[in-house]
Amino acid sequence: MPLHPLLWSLLPAHIEFLLIGWIVQLTMGVAFWILPRYWKRPRRPKKNYVLVAFVLLNLGIWLVVAGTTLRAGSWVFFAGRVAEVGAILFFALHSWRRVVSREGV
Ligand code: HEM
Repeated sequence: MPLHPLLWSLLPAHIEFLLIGWIVQLTMGVAFWILPRYWKRPRRPKKNYVLVAFVLLNLGIWLVVAGTTLRAGSWVFFAGRVAEVGAILFFALHSWRRVVSREGV
C-alpha cells in the first residue's frame, strides 16, 4: 500500500526491533528458563552472564538503529553489531554450563 516514501527509512529499525529485539530476545528468555537446571541452588548458575548478554543485546539494537535509521554513521552501526555478537557469546557461555557441565548437579 503506497503511503509516504519516507516510511521506508524505518525498515531497518523495524527489522532490528522486531527480529532481534522481539523474536531473538523472546527465544533467549525461553532458553534461559527452560535449559536444564542444577539440582542444587543456584539452579541457573552464572546468571550475571545472561544479564550482560541482555544489556549488550539491547545496547547493540539501539546502536544499529542509530547507525541506520538515525544515520549516526557506519561505526555506530558496526559497534552495535559487535555488541550483539558479544551478547551471543555471553549467552552461550551461560548456556554451555547448563548443557555440558556436570558440576553442581
Ligand atoms: C503490524 C505488524 C507489522 C507490519 C505493519 C509490518 C510491516 C512491514 C513492511 C511494510 C515491511 C517491508 C516489506 C517489503 O520489503 O516489501 C516489513 C518487513 C519486515 N518485517 Fe514487518 N511488519 C509487521 C510485523 C513484523 C513482525 C512481528 C516481525 C518479526 C517478528 C517483522 C519482521 C520483518 C522483517 C524481518 C522484515 C524484512 C523482510 C524482508 O525484507 O524480506 N515484521 N514489515
